[in-house]
Amino acid sequence: MCFRLSPVPSSGLVLLCLLLGAVPSYELEFDLKNSENATCLYAKWQMDFTVHYETTNRTSKSVTISNFTNVTFNGSKCRDEQNHSQIAVQFGSGFSWIVNFTMEAPYYLIGGISFTYNMSDATTFPDAAKKGSVTVISPATIKIPLNDIFRCNSSLTLDADKVDQKYWNVLVQPFVENGTVSKKEFVCDKDKISTTITPIVHTTVPSPTATPTPKKNPAVGNYSITNGNGTCLLATMGLQLNITQEKVPVIININPNITNVTGSCHPQTAQLRLNNNIIKYLDFVFAMKNGNRFYLKEVNASILTNGSVFSVTNNNLSYWDAPLGSSYMCNKEQIVSVSEKFQINTFNLRVQPFNVKEGKYSTAQECSLDDDTILIPIIVGAGLSGLIIVIVIAYLIGRRKSYAGYQTL
Ligand SMILES: *[C@@H]1O[C@H](CO)[C@@H](O)[C@H](O)[C@H]1NC(C)=O
Ligand SMILES: *[C@@H]1O[C@H](CO)[C@@H](O)[C@H](O)[C@H]1NC(C)=O
Ligand SMILES: *[C@@H]1O[C@H](CO)[C@@H](O)[C@H](O)[C@H]1NC(C)=O
Ligand SMILES: *[C@@H]1O[C@H](CO)[C@@H](O)[C@H](O)[C@H]1NC(C)=O
Ligand SMILES: *[C@@H]1O[C@H](CO)[C@@H](O)[C@H](O)[C@H]1NC(C)=O
Ligand SMILES: *[C@@H]1O[C@H](CO)[C@@H](O)[C@H](O)[C@H]1NC(C)=O
Ligand SMILES: *[C@@H]1O[C@H](CO)[C@@H](O)[C@H](O)[C@H]1NC(C)=O
Ligand SMILES: *[C@@H]1O[C@H](CO)[C@@H](O)[C@H](O)[C@H]1NC(C)=O
Ligand SMILES: *[C@@H]1O[C@H](CO)[C@@H](O)[C@H](O)[C@H]1NC(C)=O
Ligand SMILES: *[C@@H]1O[C@H](CO)[C@@H](O)[C@H](O)[C@H]1NC(C)=O
Ligand SMILES: *[C@@H]1O[C@H](CO)[C@@H](O)[C@H](O)[C@H]1NC(C)=O
Repeated sequence: MCFRLSPVPSSGLVLLCLLLGAVPSYELEFDLKNSENATCLYAKWQMDFTVHYETTNRTSKSVTISNFTNVTFNGSKCRDEQNHSQIAVQFGSGFSWIVNFTMEAPYYLIGGISFTYNMSDATTFPDAAKKGSVTVISPATIKIPLNDIFRCNSSLTLDADKVDQKYWNVLVQPFVENGTVSKKEFVCDKDKISTTITPIVHTTVPSPTATPTPKKNPAVGNYSITNGNGTCLLATMGLQLNITQEKVPVIININPNITNVTGSCHPQTAQLRLNNNIIKYLDFVFAMKNGNRFYLKEVNASILTNGSVFSVTNNNLSYWDAPLGSSYMCNKEQIVSVSEKFQINTFNLRVQPFNVKEGKYSTAQECSLDDDTILIPIIVGAGLSGLIIVIVIAYLIGRRKSYAGYQTL
């Protein structure tokens, strides 16, 4: 059964659908009219929020907010002089949710989302250590052709430190023209993947067209961190990220030209943080082992992939191990497996997180993968003696059959 509410005079309605016997599923629908009483913004969607917080006895707690009561749409607006429009929703005891849209003909952008909740509300957040309002802002950008309505039935997630946001069954057109909601849909990637990949899943042999085309190698970047004593961390590497959230992995080559570098050096640990337009952060944390070696201990990352934020952390890694006072080097492609869903492919890697002298790398300890440079002379040597034997045999055969020679070689 569904209830239609009209919380805002003449401009909004909310559908609250209670599925019989199931958890209530709240669908929000909003139809904003302009001064001529024509629709100028239309949206229908479902969402929930999982808030993580600390309790008075220092344990952490999570609360999922999925039922929306006393919904109002104050502050929502149609296209203004700056080509912005906005949906603002208030519900429950002091919750507010705002999404911004920007028109940039011939596209529009679904922009940042801000979510505010009231930790003073002891019913929703029992035993919260901190009181008061908290606002989390999530940058998100989805670019959509201006006269299309955006549809995404799959769930889109935005994970911030304190709040995981989930959106699904989304239908939105923030700049409706001539009062008529568009029939032309722009379907999100996740929906496309689930509809196009599903038939392949049932066949046992993967279709050759389903394998993603290999990307070219990433550009190699020089990254360094300085502290009061000059350069304290050096890293040279080409980085390729592989996110397997969906059936088809997303491969991202990091362009060092547009990537910012920050970080810090401490006596026992060192951190390198990269960020750019799609990488909110990619942290490499180095630590020491037995007081005489260093290694890559931790990777923390948060990456925007078409409107969703993919976050991952692993502080129990053991890569790039080398003696203190030297650097670690691996020219071949190497894989840092951070989680089941996330791996980093490195190319032309060289790092030195500790004991950097005069801004230069110390002697390198090479990865075992590169050790075949030592093997080359052996192979060449073995190849040469093999060649001599072949020539001798060929010569002997050639003496008997006049046509042997070349083909045998
Ligand atoms: C706007 O249009 C609706 C029907 O489309 C009508 O019920 C309503 O009275 C109109 N409101 C104004 C202010 O004209
Ligand atoms: C902390 O509080 C929670 C409930 O808020 C309770 O379940 C838990 O047992 C408490 N832990 C301690 C150590 O008191
Ligand atoms: C929304 O606006 C109405 C009328 O403008 C006002 O009565 C109401 O208190 C507002 N609600 C919130 C949550 O600001
Ligand atoms: C937060 O909740 C407290 C307690 O319910 C209330 O007194 C306060 O006005 C609320 N703040 C906001 C901004 O809604
Ligand atoms: C939304 O847009 C308003 C201005 O229209 C701006 O003040 C606000 O910071 C924006 N919010 C987000 C989350 O980007
Ligand atoms: C809106 O109306 C104008 C004038 O009638 C027309 O030129 C335009 O193409 C219409 N836009 C859409 C999206 O239908
Ligand atoms: C990185 O630094 C090395 C040594 O200083 C230099 O040879 C190389 O060209 C640099 N690479 C890039 C991409 O700047
Ligand atoms: C990306 O990861 C998936 C799953 O681990 C793997 O099958 C695929 O080969 C990887 N692709 C690249 C280019 O590393
Ligand atoms: C980075 O900048 C250099 C010099 O401006 C240019 O040669 C190179 O192609 C750029 N690399 C990428 C990946 O854009
Ligand atoms: C990595 O992420 C975890 C969990 O979000 C956090 O506890 C840790 O402090 C982060 N590490 C760094 C170096 O930011
Ligand atoms: C985002 O979507 C575009 C167009 O649908 C696609 O070409 C691109 O590969 C996607 N990027 C990511 C990181 O998913």
